[in-house]
Amino acid sequence: MPFDDVFVWQFITLFLFFSFACLREILKDRTPVRIRDLKEAISILEDSTLESRAIPNQRLVETFGIKNSFTTTNTCCNKSFIAKANRLLQTSEPEWERLAKGALWIVSQSRSPRMGDPTSLPLVDIVQALVFRIVLLKFFPDLRNPTESEITMITKSINTRWTGSKSPSSQSRPAQVQAKAVLDYGLRRVFQLDLDPSVPIDPRSNPLNILLLTYDALWPVVLSGFLELRFHSQHRDAPKWRKQLERFLSSPSRSTFEAPEDGMSIEMIVAEMLRLYPPMKRINRVHNHQTVGIDVEFLHRDPEIWGTDAEVFEPARWTEDGWTKDREMAYMPFGKGKFVCPSRAVVGPMLIGILVAALLRRFDEKFQVTGPGSSKVVFGTEPLKTIPTMNSGAGAAIPEFQTQAFGGQNDRGIQGNEYWASYPLNFTNPNLICAVDTERICNR
Ligand code: HEM
Repeated sequence: MPFDDVFVWQFITLFLFFSFACLREILKDRTPVRIRDLKEAISILEDSTLESRAIPNQRLVETFGIKNSFTTTNTCCNKSFIAKANRLLQTSEPEWERLAKGALWIVSQSRSPRMGDPTSLPLVDIVQALVFRIVLLKFFPDLRNPTESEITMITKSINTRWTGSKSPSSQSRPAQVQAKAVLDYGLRRVFQLDLDPSVPIDPRSNPLNILLLTYDALWPVVLSGFLELRFHSQHRDAPKWRKQLERFLSSPSRSTFEAPEDGMSIEMIVAEMLRLYPPMKRINRVHNHQTVGIDVEFLHRDPEIWGTDAEVFEPARWTEDGWTKDREMAYMPFGKGKFVCPSRAVVGPMLIGILVAALLRRFDEKFQVTGPGSSKVVFGTEPLKTIPTMNSGAGAAIPEFQTQAFGGQNDRGIQGNEYWASYPLNFTNPNLICAVDTERICNR
């Protein structure tokens, strides 16, 4: 190559590198403009580039030290990550059975951490630990079973780190520094990495690359789907759907997942959970030099697209009759356009089905949901307030300061949001959302 050509290429490479770095700095902390127009959303998602996705996701890199599909601008890195994900997603029929049995066994072991109170179980912690263990079983099968406290270390410090990352100045605060150290230590122990904290975890092999995509995407929809089916839905067919899910657990396969029973399949029930409660509520991109957030939750509940019952849990809308082109376009729990989740067709939805079914078996109709002071939560008719999720790409967290949870009223008629506003999900008080076995209370 002549000298001039080398010089020109060096110049172009440097120019691109600095342009990307500058754009990243300018855009990273801007609040994204929400996109709620379907056509505009689709056009942005179809025109996405790796850069347009990586820039808004830089906070993930800075907060968690990861490098994956969501954060890279390198095509080869993206392709090899997707190839790895596809390998991990392959699941044989016996493996589905092992996962279903594992899920049942894990929930059967859930106990109250409160000594002397066998009736009260911390529901959020149970769901998080269940999803965490099943994710390990599926995606990290060679690891030993982690202890409860190791799981808590990782799940709670992910939450604290993510919450803190929203204000860069808080990074040096003691709570953030501690959460970083706890997360690092928990990961090293559970994923059998070098225990010496002076040896940095390589961003490409950081287990959070997979964990944030899987655990953090799954647990919020599993929790909402379970609460919807067990406590919230007033639909006359809800008992039938619960039974159907419980039966699915006894023979979980792709065919039992897809086959309709009386016109309704588990696949449709799960699709409806993902419509009302998409774990990634917004998909962020840089578009025309600004950060935009495709408002997935809004598009999934838009009455213009889904009809006047858009806010109601109604799996029957997934039958052929209710299908329209706009619904096809607007439904995007696994992304749309240029980048879509490789788990969307089978593994993501089937895992949700299995996990919700295991919870339904464990927490039967004798249970009720209580909050602080053990008062019963009575759910209203509006959709459950979904758990705040990490905006784009990967992950979900309940920020400790923003503690909205599920719509509904408690015994004293206090609105759900207000009620849950006193709910801090943290190390010191993890037991405030409880599923209480009323029969055992009555028999005491
Ligand atoms: C309920 C579970 C899940 C949900 C809701 C979900 C959602 C999504 C979404 C919305 C995207 C697109 C993000 C964007 O365009 O910026 C995505 C991409 C991706 N997901 Fe998932 N996901 C789930 C589970 C999984 C699982 C189990 C894996 C397996 C390893 C996985 C691996 C990936 C990968 C590798 C990509 C990047 C694809 C690309 O770069 O083209 N996800 N996911």
